[in-house]
Amino acid sequence: MAASLRHIFLYSLLLLPVSEVFGSNMCTSRGANNCKQCLAVHPSCAWCSQQDFGPKEASTSRCDLKANLLAAGCALQELEFPVSSLEVVEDRPLSSKASSGKDVIQMQPQQLHLKLRPDDPKKFIVQVRQVEDYPVDLYYLMDLSNSMKDDLNRLRTLGNDLAGNMSLITSNLRMGFGAFVDKTLSPYMYMTPMEALKNPCYSIQNTCWPQFGFKHVLTLTDQLSRFTEEVKKQQVSRNRDSPEGGFDAIIQVAACKEKIGWRQEASHLLVFTTDATTHTALDGRLAGIVLPSDGQCYLNNENMYEKSTTMDYPSLARLTEKLSESNINLIFAVTKGVVPLYRNYSELIPGTVVGMLADDSGNVIELIQEAYKKIRSKVELELIGVPEYLSLSFNATCMNNEFIRGVRSCSGLTVGDTVSFSVEVLARGCPKEKRHTFMLKPVGFKNALQITVDFQCECGCEAQAEPSSPICSQGNGTYVCGTCQCYPGRLGTRCECSENNYLASEQDNCSPEPGAPICSGRGECVCGQCSCHSRDYGKIYGKYCQCDDVSCPLYQGRLCAGNGVCDCGRCSCKPGWTGDNCNCSTLAESCMSSLGLLCSGRGQCVCGTCDCTQPGAYGNTCERCPTCPDACTLKKDCVECKHFKRGRLYDDSSCTRICKDETEVVEMLAFHKNGVNCTYKDENDCIMYFQYYEDSSSRSILSIIKEPECPKGPDVLVVLSSVTGAILLLGLGALFLWKLLVTIHDRREFTKFEEERARAKWDTGNNPLYKGATSTFTNVTYGGSAQ
Ligand SMILES: *[C@@H]1O[C@H](CO)[C@@H](O)[C@H](O)[C@H]1NC(C)=O
Ligand SMILES: *[C@@H]1O[C@H](CO)[C@@H](O)[C@H](O)[C@H]1NC(C)=O
Ligand SMILES: *[C@@H]1O[C@H](CO)[C@@H](O)[C@H](O)[C@H]1NC(C)=O
Ligand SMILES: *[C@@H]1O[C@H](CO)[C@@H](O)[C@H](O)[C@H]1NC(C)=O
Ligand SMILES: *[C@@H]1O[C@H](CO)[C@@H](O)[C@H](O)[C@H]1NC(C)=O
Ligand SMILES: *[C@@H]1O[C@H](CO)[C@@H](O)[C@H](O)[C@H]1NC(C)=O
Repeated sequence: MAASLRHIFLYSLLLLPVSEVFGSNMCTSRGANNCKQCLAVHPSCAWCSQQDFGPKEASTSRCDLKANLLAAGCALQELEFPVSSLEVVEDRPLSSKASSGKDVIQMQPQQLHLKLRPDDPKKFIVQVRQVEDYPVDLYYLMDLSNSMKDDLNRLRTLGNDLAGNMSLITSNLRMGFGAFVDKTLSPYMYMTPMEALKNPCYSIQNTCWPQFGFKHVLTLTDQLSRFTEEVKKQQVSRNRDSPEGGFDAIIQVAACKEKIGWRQEASHLLVFTTDATTHTALDGRLAGIVLPSDGQCYLNNENMYEKSTTMDYPSLARLTEKLSESNINLIFAVTKGVVPLYRNYSELIPGTVVGMLADDSGNVIELIQEAYKKIRSKVELELIGVPEYLSLSFNATCMNNEFIRGVRSCSGLTVGDTVSFSVEVLARGCPKEKRHTFMLKPVGFKNALQITVDFQCECGCEAQAEPSSPICSQGNGTYVCGTCQCYPGRLGTRCECSENNYLASEQDNCSPEPGAPICSGRGECVCGQCSCHSRDYGKIYGKYCQCDDVSCPLYQGRLCAGNGVCDCGRCSCKPGWTGDNCNCSTLAESCMSSLGLLCSGRGQCVCGTCDCTQPGAYGNTCERCPTCPDACTLKKDCVECKHFKRGRLYDDSSCTRICKDETEVVEMLAFHKNGVNCTYKDENDCIMYFQYYEDSSSRSILSIIKEPECPKGPDVLVVLSSVTGAILLLGLGALFLWKLLVTIHDRREFTKFEEERARAKWDTGNNPLYKGATSTFTNVTYGGSAQ
């Protein structure tokens, strides 16, 4: 249901401009036939439930724009036209200061009641103030490994100052304290010698507390002196490896809400002080711990973390989840060397800040104050329980009336500043539930704005539905919102027809011929008349619903190529256009070649483009044709057949088919713009002159000179002697050339021979072919003398 309505909504957006094109509005064109459907079409649609209001013709609709219905005579009180509205239920002013006993109000208004018609948005303004003196819970979580000894000493003296300075920020302060070292397992802890278990500082000739995981010391309390007292009781311990197990402690502080004592209505600050890096998830494997952290509270009766040795360190994701669940703002107050590391952690854990701790924690007060300011400098609205069918958008007006579009947060605030947000709520479609409640809440604040939404999807007139109404043919239907919903077997706007009665006798009136579908299958036959269906687009009409205004040929995706209107399946084209789909221009301008010939005389102009009929011709105006004879050659045959009734075209009687040109016979060729003058020699060797041109109405005309110019016959003797002379001359020339070539060749051969002979001066006594009769061999093993 909701999905289909959403679909309709999207569809309506798409069709918005189209509906204007059709000349009606979307309320009427959608063919809603009951009130509820009508209201869902668009927030501008209204329904008239007046009994005697239309629809007498198909064109009057009960679903229309409000103004149209009123103009058509619908009484105002008979209109169904719900609009979105807003009622402020609770609107107490913002508190300027939080004082004990009274409720602190940081957000105004507190409660709203919205009535929302789908797609009709409603806007309201909420104000948020960072109230002064807001309650603060501050838990101090301290690394008590040996290197923090001086820090602990300093904190003992700083305790009172810290309490005192924090109470300047708020008079409603609670403070608590906890400490951590690391898991009491090897390799994190000194296991040998045995004394080291009790006094890990044994090897450095000192005494300190046995190692522990996490110890919750002081539950959050407003007796601030107790903080100093408890801190004074603390002693450092000592562990073996450099990283500590502080993340275990953070999880416990966040998870054990009751034991730590976090107040729901206060700001929660967790100060984490350390000078070392930290173990995180999977580091537990070094000690054989594989059980991952589950984020639950495991503090035992002595307020010690009891799963320290069996559960792995938490991951950053687990940390983030627990901190945001408990609304805790974490402050990493760490020494210089590890600031970059904790900065990197801070980027991954939202809502945390990092401060650089002096070596002895001397500046921790300033750090906390700064971090508190930073945390309180931002206001961000959080949405709680907003369903997908409601969409909310925001604009913020932050400090100095700075307007920021589309955001729901402001930063750079100081305590006491007020910011406002403009919120727009829109219902997309009608959900199943009639009412929904959701909240807007500034992050980290206690206050929230509660908004109840009622969906305006129903028509009031439906409540007055009248079953078996006399209006609907003496009780043959339910009268609702001005229309009759007929009982089964009854038809008609007032249920005036009985299916049984008219089917046999009157159905024939609803089809053009017996056996044809009733009302062309696109309407109902009601009492012998077709009542055509309505459609989302287009209109069905005609006696038998045989017509509509969208079933026309499309061209390039446009009905009637955009050059005509569709009327009952046929395009009626605008002037200048023709064709079934009006895509054919009747103008021939684009067919005109640069020579001024329609399609260069090599084709026909069809719908403004040239259809080149001459083989080999191409181009927009058939102007390119390497293999074509020119226009003169082309038209020569036409002159022959049309004028002289002879030639190739005359013989195969294709003259009238091919030569569409008109002929005119003239004494002298006249000048015509773009005319082509042609000459050719006919079969009698007479020279024929004609001209080819197009007149103002694009008719091609052959202008022919009546008589060809015939020359006198040529002298046979001259021709004969010149031919014989030419042959003789050519023969002699050929002979001479041959003689010349042979002579040159012979000369070359002779000189070559002479040269060779001069070079061949070999020694006749040493004939290279001669071999002597004796041969000499050397015995290689013969040494000459024995050794
Ligand atoms: C912090 O992150 C940056 C960038 O990711 C990285 O270059 C740097 O080494 C990180 N620092 C520490 C201490 O992990
Ligand atoms: C904290 O208070 C003491 C006196 O109580 C004062 O001297 C000191 O400047 C204050 N520190 C801060 C950071 O406000
Ligand atoms: C936000 O501002 C824009 C333009 O300034 C406006 O069109 C829009 O309606 C505003 N939205 C809200 C929720 O006020
Ligand atoms: C329906 O209308 C007919 C007359 O058209 C009437 O005779 C009949 O009683 C009505 N049926 C009911 C159920 O009222
Ligand atoms: C006109 O439309 C018809 C049918 O789609 C198509 O065959 C023809 O090529 C089109 N003519 C022009 C000039 O686009
Ligand atoms: C064709 O001949 C006519 C008459 O001799 C002349 O006026 C005209 O300029 C000629 N056309 C061309 C294109 O040569």
